[in-house]
Amino acid sequence: MSLVKGLHHMTVCVGGAQEDIDFQTQIFGQRMIKQTVLFDGRYAHYHLYYANADAEPGSVYTTFPYGRVRGRQGSGQIQATAYSVPKGSLKFWLEHLNHHKIKNNGIQERFGQKFIRFDHPSGIQLEVLEEAGDNRRGWRTGEVSTDVATRGFHGPVLSVREIAETERFFVDALGFKKTGQEGPYHRFEIGEGGAAKTVTLLHEPDRPSGSWIFGAGTAHHMALEVESDEKLTEQKGIYEELGYTDASEIKDRMYFHSVYCRCPGGILVECAATVPQGFAVDEPADQLGQSLLLPPWFEPRRAEIEAMLEPIKVPDTNFPQGRKAPVKVPVQAQASGDAAAGASGASRRTSAVFIGGDKPAQK
Ligand SMILES: [Fe+2]
Repeated sequence: MSLVKGLHHMTVCVGGAQEDIDFQTQIFGQRMIKQTVLFDGRYAHYHLYYANADAEPGSVYTTFPYGRVRGRQGSGQIQATAYSVPKGSLKFWLEHLNHHKIKNNGIQERFGQKFIRFDHPSGIQLEVLEEAGDNRRGWRTGEVSTDVATRGFHGPVLSVREIAETERFFVDALGFKKTGQEGPYHRFEIGEGGAAKTVTLLHEPDRPSGSWIFGAGTAHHMALEVESDEKLTEQKGIYEELGYTDASEIKDRMYFHSVYCRCPGGILVECAATVPQGFAVDEPADQLGQSLLLPPWFEPRRAEIEAMLEPIKVPDTNFPQGRKAPVKVPVQAQASGDAAAGASGASRRTSAVFIGGDKPAQK
């Protein structure tokens, strides 16, 4: 019995913050569910989260606007993230993408499923892929109605130079089963398979390696969902037992706890266990994404952090019930501080020195 339930989130580095927000919320029809910052390093960067109507794991796409450094696309990297859309909706998507002059490859087919691959303004690649019977709730926007909206992820396409060792990692360490091969594409599924439970390897033996850094225009990692902190610890044990001893410690990511391990093909794979209140841990569920939220250990440096970030505006349409005065939900961890992080076994940063940010230079 696998500890992994399916996909949890995908994380990529884009260019400008406002450019990303406008594309995700206005064109791609995503619900913005969180504005926060990168928890690591000495530079202040936004960390923006988008999801479906219910902000569910398996639909959460997170972006670091990282205009400061450009990444290089290649193998050993997540090449694209496919979203599940209802059957018959690709006609809408093709017209919609063309209307907004979004570069796309038209309607193609993989494993009998029709999809369109298209570019985010940063060069990151996305797909809408038809999947019948995905009953998750899509988010409705002015241009994307619920009958065509994305339901959440179908799964990532990972470019690797060799298949065998990455296959071994996904099968032996994570519990996936190989369910198909079509040309250079190898499909792996977990549990009952299908949406949010699929990973596709693309064999590109001659493609030079992509960068592993945070860099605009490249994906950074994929995350798989496990049930609890206990399962995270068990998963770390499985990695170590199999020889993947470079699995990280458990990290406190505020909304979930995480263990990272780079797979043999080069892709960084995280396992994440959502905290009990999920994304509503620090703001009311109907106000998600309304204001910049910082973890308690960064809050004393709010003014310094905000000054280093690009000013952004989230469209009013992201809040169909209207904007409300910000009500900050008291974070349990805030009161109990490091004791809470300690109890879960998760390591947490407690202070920070920032030396720069991602605010574009004033013209
Ligand atoms: Fe992550």
